[in-house]
Formats: sequence, structure tokens, C-alpha cells
Amino acid sequence: MIHDILWHGADYNPDQWLERPDILEKDVELMKKAGVSVVSLGIFAWATLEPEEGKYNLDWMEETIERLHAAGVKVDLATPSGARPAWMARKYPEVLRVNADRTKQLFGGRHNHCYTSPVYREKVKQMDQLLARRFGRHPSVILWHISNEFGGDCHCELCQEAFRGWLQKKYGTIAALNRAWNTKFWSHEYPDFSYVESPCPHGENELHGLKLDWKRFVSHQTTDFMKWERDCIREIVPDAKVCVNMMNRFDGIDYFDMAREIDLASWDAYPLWHRPDQTLEEVALDTAMMHDLMYSVKGKPFWLMENTPSFTNWQPMSKVKKPGMNIFSGLQAVAHGSDGVLYFQFRQSRGSSEKFHGAIVSHDCREDNRTFVETAQLGKILRQISSVAGEHKEKQAAIIHDWSSKWAMEDSQGPRNCGLGYWEEVMRHYNALSRLGIGVDFVNGDSDLSGYKLVIAPMLYMLPEAFAAKLRAYVQAGGTLVMTYWSGVADETDLVWLGDAPHGLVDVLGVRRCEIDGMYDGETRRCIAVGRGMPASAQGSVLCEVAALEGASPLMIYNEDFFIGSPAVSVNSFGKGKAYYLATRFEEGFYKPFYKTVTDGLLTPAWAGELPEGVLAVRRGRFTFLQNASEKPAEVDGVEIMPYGTVIYDGKKRIL
Ligand code: GLA
Ligand code: ZN
Repeated sequence: MIHDILWHGADYNPDQWLERPDILEKDVELMKKAGVSVVSLGIFAWATLEPEEGKYNLDWMEETIERLHAAGVKVDLATPSGARPAWMARKYPEVLRVNADRTKQLFGGRHNHCYTSPVYREKVKQMDQLLARRFGRHPSVILWHISNEFGGDCHCELCQEAFRGWLQKKYGTIAALNRAWNTKFWSHEYPDFSYVESPCPHGENELHGLKLDWKRFVSHQTTDFMKWERDCIREIVPDAKVCVNMMNRFDGIDYFDMAREIDLASWDAYPLWHRPDQTLEEVALDTAMMHDLMYSVKGKPFWLMENTPSFTNWQPMSKVKKPGMNIFSGLQAVAHGSDGVLYFQFRQSRGSSEKFHGAIVSHDCREDNRTFVETAQLGKILRQISSVAGEHKEKQAAIIHDWSSKWAMEDSQGPRNCGLGYWEEVMRHYNALSRLGIGVDFVNGDSDLSGYKLVIAPMLYMLPEAFAAKLRAYVQAGGTLVMTYWSGVADETDLVWLGDAPHGLVDVLGVRRCEIDGMYDGETRRCIAVGRGMPASAQGSVLCEVAALEGASPLMIYNEDFFIGSPAVSVNSFGKGKAYYLATRFEEGFYKPFYKTVTDGLLTPAWAGELPEGVLAVRRGRFTFLQNASEKPAEVDGVEIMPYGTVIYDGKKRIL
């Protein structure tokens, strides 16, 4: 069901409008006109569902679901655990979070509950099962929206105990933990597990192993809480489908782990379209990268769960989406594997912090409002191209994105404390491949690499033995690997590997890291080509590694500083495959010609010919999308594509 059509919808919060039955009636009428086929219902409705402890009021929700049902609008039913009623916080303070500095939060806000608290889990169970019993088998309820935007951590005593238990299970003995965390440093050894406390600003904050494991624990505990909710629902409705809404570049949860436990990945996208300091194409690529990550966490179509049909109100500027942009951004999500385009939210709130956030229906309540009109147009288009739904993407290139590696790398002191720019690095590879029309997935150490012709390891700081072996086998069997500087540095507990680096791959790459020099912001080192298919020159920045060739052929070399002549780009043949090594971060212009050389004859781009600047081609199964991410009309093969325009082909047949 969730992949049968291209869904179109929004968060729907009728609990804010119960005193206006006229508006509630009007809502479904407007939904039909806007081509809304699904709504995420009641995400923050707990206080209306249970105004007093044990006193439930679900009738309004039943009425809502029936009204939607009559209009043919399906329901993605939310569990309301993202925020709680005031009575609960007062009666059971343990449901509230404790901050890293050990202060306890007061009632207020949202997304601020303890994931460990047995009381909160019990309350959530009662509520979720009540909803499941009453609505779980309703023909309109096709999906469950578990909580909202999971994130953050809690440092309460219950969480501390759970953390210690998690560590004990992981390490077995305190000696093993002390070894793994290198606690001899500054005499920080733990006599036993009871001494372990989560990291805090006025206590332990230097043990990188502790900080890394805390992040892993928080990710685990959050997923565990999500599983609790999922299983409460499935106890009543065994075949219930569940999703969570994830966030842009969110760092706090390993989404690969969480996604394994859900049926549908989805995310909330709020790109800064029309910002003056970036081209439209750059913003589009930034957004596309996250769509591709969301496709990748399950390796199948996802939903764009939230985006704004017009503007946000929490970003520096409430910039309106210009005419055409809402359609462009919705279709972009579809091109990258989404089977849904949903918004926050259906009707604009009258009060509180989101009253000036855009919505399908604005304060003017008018159907001829431009946002409404364009949203309805997109609804029509999504119906028209619904055959795209469920279509998978071909495996082409994969970029390794490993949450643990990023956590460890960014927590370390040195080699560049003013910022490593991890996402900047990832984007250079992603953008170049996308501009060439090559499809990109994201993978981690657990992923199956077979089927990918090209694997890229940008700043893969943490490289456990097994992952190094997997990469070696991948190249051996004929794969092409591109690895960058600051890879293969540490093991899975963030202990630096001894011996030649990148760990376990020196013979695969044919280079060995000797030194690494930090570059101040703006500082660069010129590199020049010495091999075929490289740009004549390019500037290196951020970190410059000095590497020794151990069998690889240099393609670019440094042309200044004491490391003049040492390899900046090299390639090595290993087994049936090839391994490239980039010893520095190059200027953006380097990557497209580099990847053109790397992918030539290896991968087939989404579009065979040259594309005008700003036109992006994406392939999703048998469909090809061309989008004009520029402010100028463009022509491709005699077809004119207006700015923000989209052309879609089903095979050779144009369907939009
Ligand atoms: C997030 C939340 C929504 C809403 C929007 C506003 O994505 O999930 O509840 O607050 O932001 O942009
Ligand atoms: Zn807690």
C-alpha cells in the first residue's frame, strides 16, 4: 500500500481546531481539491487524547478518521509520544529529561522525554495500544508515524544505569572497557562499572572511548524506545506498518540501525531554496544527497514526510518558494526514490511558535492562494506519474557514511580543530557524480558492497579490521575504490591503529600515509597533474597528507611546500580492481573531471549527452528525470525545460 501510488499529503492537527467544526468540514473538502491522499494525524495530540490521567477522549479522532475515510484520504496515524500532557510531567517527573550538566528539564517544549523511564514507556504503551485497538484495523489507517523526529539524550539516573548495563554487556569486564577506552590516560581508570557516568561538561569529557560509546548508547536507546512503541502496536495489529520521520544531516542516531527496525524510511526536508549565497543547483544537490541517504538506509523507496509548501519560520529567513519551486522540490524527491510528498502542515496554526510557518491552507483560508494552487497542481502531477511509485534505483556508486566514524573523528582533538568539514568532503564527491548523472547510494560497514561498481570512502577515519578486509575483498574482486586522506586511522573503540596507514589497505591503495599537515582556512597547496585524465592543476586544502608511494602510480602531485613531488592523487591496481587515493581536499572543480575519468566505461550516466549547466539527470529504474535547477530556460535534445521545470521519461516515452 505505502508504495502503490505517489502519496501526497501533510501533517494534520485537527486537535487544534476542535472548537471549529466548520473548519474541520472544510478541511476535507480542501484536501480533495489539493489532491491530498494521506495525512499524518495527531502527532502532538496526547493532551487531547488523554486530558486527565486514564480519562480518554478518542471520539474526535474517530470522527476525523471517518471524515477522512469518506473523502478517500488515508491516515498515517501518529503515536503522540513526541510531547506529553502537563499532568504527566507533574505527576511523574521521571518522564522529563536530565541535561548533560545534570539539570532537570521543566515541563514544556517537545522531544524532551527520557527514553529509559519505565513510567513513560508504560504510559506510551497504554496510549499506543488504545489507538491501535480502536483504529489499527480501520481500512484508512495504512501506516503508523512513530513519535516525531527522534533525537537528543537524557542523563538521568535511569539512563546512567541503562548505559552501565549496555557497557557491561558490550565489554564483559571492566578491564576490557579500561583497555578499549585507554583510561590509563590521566589516571581515569574505572575500578568497576558503577563508576561510569555519561560525559558531562563539569566531569568526564576527555575520554573519547566513553564519548563515542555514549553516542552509540543514545542511538541504541532511542531505537529501543522506537521498537517499544512499534511492538506495542504490533501486539494489537501484527501487520501494522511503521515509519519514523528522520532529519537532515542528523547526527544523533545511526539511521542505518534505526531503519532496520521500521517498514518505511522518511524524512523532513527544509532546504534553503533561493538563498543568495548558493546557486539553485547547489541547494538542489544538497537536498538530493539527503534523499539518497534516505533511500539507502533501507535500500528502498522512502517518503518525503515533511517539507514546506511555501516557507518555514524557524530558519534565519522565511523565504517564500517561488512559483514552480514546490513542484520542482516534490518531483526531485520522487526522482531520488520517494513515494510520497508530504508537507508540514495542512492548515496553518493560529498561535504559538509555528503560527507563521507555511502550510497548504494559509490564514487567509483561500483556495486561490498561490501556495494552495501550486500544491494542488503537484497533487495532479503525482497522480499523473503514479507509475513511478515503488520503482527501485539501480546500484551504481556508493559513498561510505558511517555514523560511528564521524562521531569519533569529530570528537578528536587534532588534526584540525577549526573544523574538518566532513559533509563538505562528502558533498564534493556526491555533487560531481550527480552532475555526471551517476546514481549514488550511501553504505556503511555492514552493507553489502556487491553490485556497486564504485565505492568512495571520504574521510573514513574509523576502520575496523573487518571493514578493511571487506574493502580489500571488494577491490580484489574487481571493484573500484576511491579513498581519501584521514582514513583508516582508528579501530572501533577509537584507539589509533599502530603500523602503516591507512590501516589494512596500504597494499590495496599502493600508498602509505607518512604525515598529515593541517591547513588554516584559506590556506591552499597547489597540485599538478602527472597522469592522464586529471585537471592540469588544482588546489589542496584543509588537510594535506604526505604519502609515500608503495606501488601506486601518481596522477597528481603537490607542487609546493616541503612535500613537493609527493602524491596528491594516485591509482593502484589490486587484484581485479583499482584503488584511488586522494591525499587532500581539492577545490570543487577538481572532482567532476576526476570522476569522469574514474567512471568512464565503468558506469552509465542517466543521460547520455552533455547537459546544460544546472540541468540534473536522475534515473529511477526505468524512469529518467531531467530537472532544470537554474534560473535560465534550458534545452535538452530539442526539449525546452523552463527554470524549475521537470521532464520525465518512462523509457523513451515522455510522461511529463
Ligand atoms: C519539524 C517537525 C514538525 C514541524 C516542522 C516545522 O520537521 O517535525 O512538527 O515543527 O519541523 O518546519
Ligand atoms: Zn533518562
